[in-house]
Amino acid sequence: MSTTINPYLQGNFAPVHEELTVTELPVRGHLPEALNGRYLRNGPNPVSVPEPASYHWFTGDGMVHGIRLCAGRAEWYRNRWVRSAEVARALGEPVRPGPVHAGMDFAANTNVIGHAGRTFAIVEAGARPYELNEELDTIGPCDFGGTLDGGYTAHPKRDPLTGELYAVSYFFGWGDDVEVTIVDAQARVRSSRRVTMGGAVSVHDTAITQRHIVLLDLPVTFSMDAIAEGASFPYRWQEGYHARVGLLPRDGDSTDVVWHDVEPCYVFHPMNAYDEPGGDGIVLDVVRHSSMFRTQLLGPSEGAPTLERWHLDGHGSAVKEERIDDRGQEFPRVDERRVGLPHRYGYAVGVRESGDIVGTESVLLRHDLERGTSEVRSFGSGASLGEAVFVPRTADADETDGWLMTLVHSPESGTSALHILNADDVDGDAQAVVELPQRVPAGFHGNWVPDRA
Ligand SMILES: [Fe+2]
Repeated sequence: MSTTINPYLQGNFAPVHEELTVTELPVRGHLPEALNGRYLRNGPNPVSVPEPASYHWFTGDGMVHGIRLCAGRAEWYRNRWVRSAEVARALGEPVRPGPVHAGMDFAANTNVIGHAGRTFAIVEAGARPYELNEELDTIGPCDFGGTLDGGYTAHPKRDPLTGELYAVSYFFGWGDDVEVTIVDAQARVRSSRRVTMGGAVSVHDTAITQRHIVLLDLPVTFSMDAIAEGASFPYRWQEGYHARVGLLPRDGDSTDVVWHDVEPCYVFHPMNAYDEPGGDGIVLDVVRHSSMFRTQLLGPSEGAPTLERWHLDGHGSAVKEERIDDRGQEFPRVDERRVGLPHRYGYAVGVRESGDIVGTESVLLRHDLERGTSEVRSFGSGASLGEAVFVPRTADADETDGWLMTLVHSPESGTSALHILNADDVDGDAQAVVELPQRVPAGFHGNWVPDRA
């Protein structure tokens, strides 16, 4: 047995081993009666003990944690593994049948979304979504009613004006191509295009504007060396790669992309993008890593990622980069009603000291991008928090009027809680704190999924 210490299996990265169903959770403060729905969060939680020397954080089996809020009560907490065939077998259960893509059966571990009244656990790199039911039990792999050719992505962007999902998906079997899809509000693919990139890139996320889909063609590519070494996530930094950002017109094809060179770097997550008022270009806010999977091969840990504003002129000039914030941060989000439209506020998880995402105390950052200011909220010594999700108080409330939801882990108590803050007073008393019956390991993305009217 190896004695290697893998940071992604330690502390709050360590997996939990039980699936719980607990009702009527204790709440401190006052839960708004208007919050009726589920807060869902996905993340890696290997079902079997992995080999520490080779375990990559991105490849742990997905586990979705959910908290249902209803009429001022915290009705339940559930956590469930996503049942890929391997997970089902490990748990001694029958395999859920369904359309797996190209043998890429994977317990989607990166994001969980509500769409068309359904719930999907999603991931990148070739695997299809897994559909879950309201109580987070796995239904099976899903190809959107036979309309999705290949795998999907962990980061579709929902156009708030149409309710459609825009996605850029990649898969090593497609060579240098990615697939750009639009899924309609009924969860069926209505448009699918292949676009050729500069290499077999790992495209974690995208951004949209009202005119464009953003293509991040950056130097993390499929690596045969990594395959030869037995890497479970075979993507590595490629020195000398021609880094660029493409603008694909929403209705365009591969020949219509306008490429803009950018300094080599990696971006997991844009915060948002929008068309520059009165011009042909766009504004693209991103969290920029100076490199990725160049020296640290088990997870995203190569120095402090910074918040940047990129200007693309739409005509192919190099990207104009403007630093917004030097502090290390990740998991940028905006009010979902501003996706593809100008936003004033953005939220991110900041990290103290080294800027390393792993093992340090984290704080919530609320950026006012119009005034160029930010507010910081700490959750106590050593506490770590998850991505913050903005929920508007009402459908037409403004960008300040709502709540921020985030999961907070306190190493002192060893527990986790769902914190609900007032978005216009992030440093003030929490609106409510829902205490959870077990630790929620550090993970990736989550969303508030309101009940359907
Ligand atoms: Fe992500």
